[in-house]
Amino acid sequence: MKLHIAVLPGDGIGPEVTSQAVKVLKAIAMEFGHIFTFEYGLIGGAAIKKSGTALPEETLSICKKADTILFGAIGEPKYNFDPDAKVRPEQGLLKLRKELDLFANIRPVIAYEDLLNHSPLKNKCIKDTDIIIYRELSAGIYYGDKTLSEDGQSASDVCQYNRFEIERIAHLAFKAAQSRQRKLTLVDKANVLASSRLWRKVIMEMAPQYPNVTLDFYYIDNAAMQLILNPRQFDVILTENMFGDILSEEASVIVGSIGLLASASLGPKYAMFEPIHGAYSKATDKGIANPIASILSATMLLDHFGLLDEASLIRKAIKKSLKLHITTPDLNTKYDNISTSKVGDFIEDFINHPEETNLN
Ligand code: IPM
Repeated sequence: MKLHIAVLPGDGIGPEVTSQAVKVLKAIAMEFGHIFTFEYGLIGGAAIKKSGTALPEETLSICKKADTILFGAIGEPKYNFDPDAKVRPEQGLLKLRKELDLFANIRPVIAYEDLLNHSPLKNKCIKDTDIIIYRELSAGIYYGDKTLSEDGQSASDVCQYNRFEIERIAHLAFKAAQSRQRKLTLVDKANVLASSRLWRKVIMEMAPQYPNVTLDFYYIDNAAMQLILNPRQFDVILTENMFGDILSEEASVIVGSIGLLASASLGPKYAMFEPIHGAYSKATDKGIANPIASILSATMLLDHFGLLDEASLIRKAIKKSLKLHITTPDLNTKYDNISTSKVGDFIEDFINHPEETNLN
């Protein structure tokens, strides 16, 4: 298969983790006889520095003409304490998601057997967790009208949803549930928010189309507690933009490190693959950033194009690396010198010599 992939490394650790994912994709192309080509674009703080805007036209056009997009991370500390900044790195990612209509952000949360001890939560509570979060990505409070009064004393962000924005992601989530444990949980705040009540109404109306899916409802506050009390009760979680952002970051505690969580952002025409973590600027260029979330994002990319054997080989390589403690310091207690690129090298080697490494 030929795939032209737009690569947007972004800020902080984005470039170093993304380069490991590209390395792994190149190894897959060699091993399976595919032709993957890569075209790089600037986004976020890196783009602001060069062009004054977080999403230059050129980057958008690279993305639009590619078959798919691999994204790294975004954000720079200097903007964190500058509430008056006119441009912000995050605007680049938000605008890209909007321009490409990437409405469904799919975030798997799987507790790896070999990492159970890395979670602060009890093994018996997190063991066998296998959840997939469907986070709406194109609307809600992230995109509603924002105001700041002239005197700077009041501000607002509107959380708005239209029926079609709820329906389109809900169909994907219901279908995902059908192919899994047939359980869908809507997370909202319908006791307080009008937008959540619309979500509930729409989902309840859709439910008869999916009679074999058990549907339940949690308020976000309860869901946040249940997620770490008893994560195994969840199969597919469906939720709006901001709740999904927060819940998925919380869910990374189950897995042992946020450096392990990947995602797919899908729309009617485009698809982008991105780790859920941020730019972690403190760690930039130190070789300590975990590349697995980026490599797993590349794996989801392969799944998306039906390259299932390829994706499964990478997943095997990742499991093996975890078993052998070939992991960055966020996970490692055994060796203290495993760098970002060493993890990538191990996975690349595994792909290059699957016949040797698959035996055990
Ligand atoms: C994420 C990130 C982004 C978000 C930020 C960087 C805008 O936290 O992908 O989860 O909030 O969507």
